[in-house]
Amino acid sequence: MRAGKNAVDQTALTTKRQSLRREIYRILESPRGGGWIRRWIDAGLILLILINAALIVIEEVMPPGAYAVELRVVEWVTVAVFAVEYGFRLWVAAERDDRHHLSPWRLRLGYILSPVGLIDLCAFAPSLLSGLIFLDPRYLRLVRLLKLVRYSPALQSLAAVFYKERRTLFGALLIAVIALFVSAGVVHLAEREAQPEAFGTITESMWWAIVTVARIGYGDVVPHTPLGKLIGGVSALLGLCVVALPSAIMASGFIEQIRRRDFVVNSKLVLQVPLFADLQIVHIVEIASMLRPLAVPPLYRIVRAGDAADCMYFVVSGELQVDLGERRVKLSNGDFFGEMGLLNKAPRSADVVAVTDTQLLVLEASDFDKLTRVYPEMRSTIETYAAKRSTLQS
Ligand code: CMP
Repeated sequence: MRAGKNAVDQTALTTKRQSLRREIYRILESPRGGGWIRRWIDAGLILLILINAALIVIEEVMPPGAYAVELRVVEWVTVAVFAVEYGFRLWVAAERDDRHHLSPWRLRLGYILSPVGLIDLCAFAPSLLSGLIFLDPRYLRLVRLLKLVRYSPALQSLAAVFYKERRTLFGALLIAVIALFVSAGVVHLAEREAQPEAFGTITESMWWAIVTVARIGYGDVVPHTPLGKLIGGVSALLGLCVVALPSAIMASGFIEQIRRRDFVVNSKLVLQVPLFADLQIVHIVEIASMLRPLAVPPLYRIVRAGDAADCMYFVVSGELQVDLGERRVKLSNGDFFGEMGLLNKAPRSADVVAVTDTQLLVLEASDFDKLTRVYPEMRSTIETYAAKRSTLQS
């Protein structure tokens, strides 16, 4: 009897701990935003990072040893705050919606080894080990500055483009390496006798090849023979393509990324949702102002069964899957989901996961109530769908 009660207590505790972890994940990490608490936490962390950045300059202009106690206090406050932040991020990494198919420990390891995870760790860990490793605090403050990546959408986009275009960029890098070796090899053949000190071996010729193909041209080493000069000209022209290729890949990837991230909700987009298509244009414009865009990658879990329902979603493009346990239902352009939780004021009834890159429009619960009050016929259409869906669930 007592063992049974203990088991029940243990289960309740685990569930409580999980829902707390989920809530903290939502506040700290969820791309849907953690509301005003996230804004305050982010503002506090950014302020601390900026104080650390300012200290790099202040410390260098102040006489050595000045304000030593104050600086130590700032250092220990920084270490304590960043260590606590790291602990929380590590704990809630198990809740990640974009890799929900992995085990909690794989997700935590993923955070530890991710670029942001490593930056987060390096922002405080070396200070704790300062007795063991010698490190000038100024370098540590430079690392802390990297934490701003988390708060810069432009830098995040750049990192995402690097990752997305990694294969193409690797191809361009391979072409550059081949161009360098060919250029260094032929200039070595042409110049080795005229200038053995600069072009005596292919490796020595490599410096000249790099500055020529990269079109920097320091001029510290230049070919003297006519053939060497011809090779120099061809290498510089080759450099045009070698440099242009990765720049073009990055530029087009960046534009695509920004377009996806910043797609704005306009009337044309709203008209793509059949539920709104028959409304007059004035109403469409009003509805557009209530909707928020959200772009998610494949495998991203947008809705998790059991979570509180605070909004519903309309699919502009992409494919999604509703996980009903034994069955899976596909959703695509023009469909909507998340309405059941709002109508029934109940937790989410199923997981909804993106299958492809997906663009959604999000309607918050308060706007849903407003909208369905103004357009009762819209509410009855949504209710009909919800009723049909719940019969399919049972
Ligand atoms: P909600 O319960 O808020 O969150 C999960 C959503 O999955 C649910 O709302 C519906 O929008 C959607 N859903 C549930 N069952 C089905 C179904 N049988 N077909 C399509 N969508 C469904």
